[in-house]
Amino acid sequence: MLTAQIASELSAHMNYHGIAIWFRRQSLDRWSKLFWNQATEEAEHAAKIMRFLDDNDVHYDLPGVGPATTKFANAAACIQAAASSESKVTREFKAMAQAAIEENDAVAHQFLQWFLEEQLEEESKMAKLSDLVASGINLFQAEPLLDSFEEG
Ligand SMILES: [Fe+2]
Ligand SMILES: [Fe+2]
Repeated sequence: MLTAQIASELSAHMNYHGIAIWFRRQSLDRWSKLFWNQATEEAEHAAKIMRFLDDNDVHYDLPGVGPATTKFANAAACIQAAASSESKVTREFKAMAQAAIEENDAVAHQFLQWFLEEQLEEESKMAKLSDLVASGINLFQAEPLLDSFEEG
């Protein structure tokens, strides 16, 4: 499940780059930067799993990662894609935490807690971004507000 999760995190990495490119194309550079940073975080999540597997002496091959679109109808569609990808990842980590309990694997269970907390933050961030876009605010004027979304 953890090797499969590497692909999930790297897919999220690619998907966020796709969204960052879409925003950049609209000259919404601060929005683009937020998703660019988000992409970097996802690559770090993948690396964190790789280190954990290696620390546990698991030998594995890296899974394949598919392409990611840069074409979206509008900003709301970008946020929607990000939000549904985050909820999918949350479901994956919950399933892994459940499997760790069933296997009496306290170390893996502990390892997964960090990700579950991270997912809570990321889902909340996407919900806030969705509300911001739905408010109808001009996205250029909304750019200074994005700093607060990236604190903590
Ligand atoms: Fe992640
Ligand atoms: Fe994420």
